[in-house]
This record gives sequence, C-alpha cells and structure tokens, in this order.
Amino acid sequence: MKKEEKAQRYEALLQEVEALVGPESDEIANMANIAAAIHARMGFHWTGFYRVLPTPDGSGEELVLGPFQGPVACTRIRYGRGVCGTAWKEKRTLIVPDVEQFPGHIACSALSRSEIVIPIVRKGAVTAELDIDSAELDTFDAVDERYLTLLLTSLATE
Ligand code: SME
Repeated sequence: MKKEEKAQRYEALLQEVEALVGPESDEIANMANIAAAIHARMGFHWTGFYRVLPTPDGSGEELVLGPFQGPVACTRIRYGRGVCGTAWKEKRTLIVPDVEQFPGHIACSALSRSEIVIPIVRKGAVTAELDIDSAELDTFDAVDERYLTLLLTSLATE
C-alpha cells in the first residue's frame, strides 16, 4: 500500500475510532472495537490486544490475550519473550520487518511475516499492548506507528 493511501485510511480510522470509543469507558469493549475497526480498514492478518495481568499462581505478571480479529493466537506470553514480551520489557514500540529475523519470535500463525507491537503505558507501567501481524514482509513503518499510537490515546482513561 502506498504511503498516501495508508495515511488516508488511517485518517478515516481515527475518526471512526474516536466516535466509537469516545462515549464508552469500558476498556475491553473499546479494545474490541478498535481491533475490529483497524482490521477491517487496513486488511492486516491479525490485529489484537494483549493485557498485562497477574499470573494464575500470583507470582508475577504476564501478557494475556485480549480482544482481537484474525486467526486464533497464543493465549499467554511471558515478560521478555517474543516480540510482545520484548516490547513490554523495553517499554517501546517494536517494528519487525521480517519476523524470522527476530530472535525468539513467537509464531502464532505461520502466515505472519512482519509485525508491529505498541505498548500502552500508564503511570510508567505497561498495562497492555496492541499487536498487529502482516502476511507480507516489511509492512509497518513510521506512518503506522504514528497513527496507531494516536489511535491508542483514545483508550487512555486518565
Ligand atoms: N508474534 C508475537 C506473538 C503474538 S501473535 O503474533 C498474535 C510475538 O512474538 O510476541
């Protein structure tokens, strides 16, 4: 997709998401609509959220699958593992042009070729992440990062 077309699609998406999420305060409902809106407009392979939640044994925290669109995915991801666990640990957006070149990448779907993970940070801690997989190499760039980060600001409740 050309840069201009991508930006146009994201502009429309921003308006759609603001209208959907603005009046609603439930975070899961908003994550569900954001994932569906991104997925439908942009045509990615997998679009969804992971939330940072306590482990079942209470010994720590891990990423747990949240609202998503696309094929079934890994349910739990540990701190520092895969692209998602690394973005959590490093508290920064990761753009991976070729997932096969990312050490420890977790292949939830054999069709995923490139990926972007954007952490949602509140009061200095990562509380969730937006994860998007593409079936093509080198899909994500600074345009995706800028718009997706903007989209996520509508999730912030404080
Ligand atoms: N590939 C991710 C796992 C999540 S799925 O892509 C939905 C990773 O390496 O963390």
